[in-house]
Amino acid sequence: MAQYTTREITPEIGCEISGLDVRRLADPAILAEIKTLIGKHHMLCFKDQNLGAQELVDFTERFGEPDSHILRQYTHRDHPAVYVISNVEDRLANVNDVSLNWHTDLAFKTHPSAFVVLHAEKVPEVGADTCFASMQRVYKALTDEEKARLRGRLATYSYVRLHAKRTRIEPLTAPLSPQQLAESPDVYHPLLRRHPDTGEEILYLNLPDCMGIEGFAEDEALGMIKGLFDRITDPAHVYAHKWSVGDLVIWDNRTLLHSATWFDPERYQRRMLRTCVKGEKPMPSVPLQAAAE
Ligand SMILES: [Fe+2]
Repeated sequence: MAQYTTREITPEIGCEISGLDVRRLADPAILAEIKTLIGKHHMLCFKDQNLGAQELVDFTERFGEPDSHILRQYTHRDHPAVYVISNVEDRLANVNDVSLNWHTDLAFKTHPSAFVVLHAEKVPEVGADTCFASMQRVYKALTDEEKARLRGRLATYSYVRLHAKRTRIEPLTAPLSPQQLAESPDVYHPLLRRHPDTGEEILYLNLPDCMGIEGFAEDEALGMIKGLFDRITDPAHVYAHKWSVGDLVIWDNRTLLHSATWFDPERYQRRMLRTCVKGEKPMPSVPLQAAAE
């Protein structure tokens, strides 16, 4: 075991790692230890890091291929894989917008992110926490009947609908261009999918861009999704991460939901760098025809 310390944050979510410069993940033995930890805790916080954009990309590549965001106007000028969340410069992005709502990133893509990485450069004294909630906790609490109802079902997700909710960053939110629209067809993901690393059946769903569930009326489907979301985000089981400058957080976007808390952009500065690791196409936990009774 390399010389660093770990601290479980909650029994369901998160592990804090101190005394490890993440540049040392170039060592395959250390990287293997870290991957084991993320499989167990779903979210890791490396304390006291100081990474430039290229070093953040290098870190991200330890876990897979970096993904890019559809809103390219907010990406780092020299590193398109790095998304800048900031009110410090004029490239204001994602401050107090739909990120305040619970979600999993990029569910509207055919290959949603596997992992999301955030690195804190400037943090407000008050607000701008990142909150996490475990889909796996609720999966484990589902009855056999509830699982049977979800198994083999596909939910529909629409980026066009999500974009329409980005009202809080007006006037910077432009209508989607024809190219962006062409890159954003509706997608279909199984509600119960197979985690590619663990092989476990996992619950995977997103509310903000969900349009429905195949085989269910829209009202019933959205009611089911909302009900599950409410269970997942039960405040008694949420972990709210209070950021410190230098924190580097990576989480499994397939097993956790996340949301941000509000902060006052007139009073405080916030600058975060974000990357995503491209994920696999979600695989249903059973062949889809098995659900069609
Ligand atoms: Fe997000």
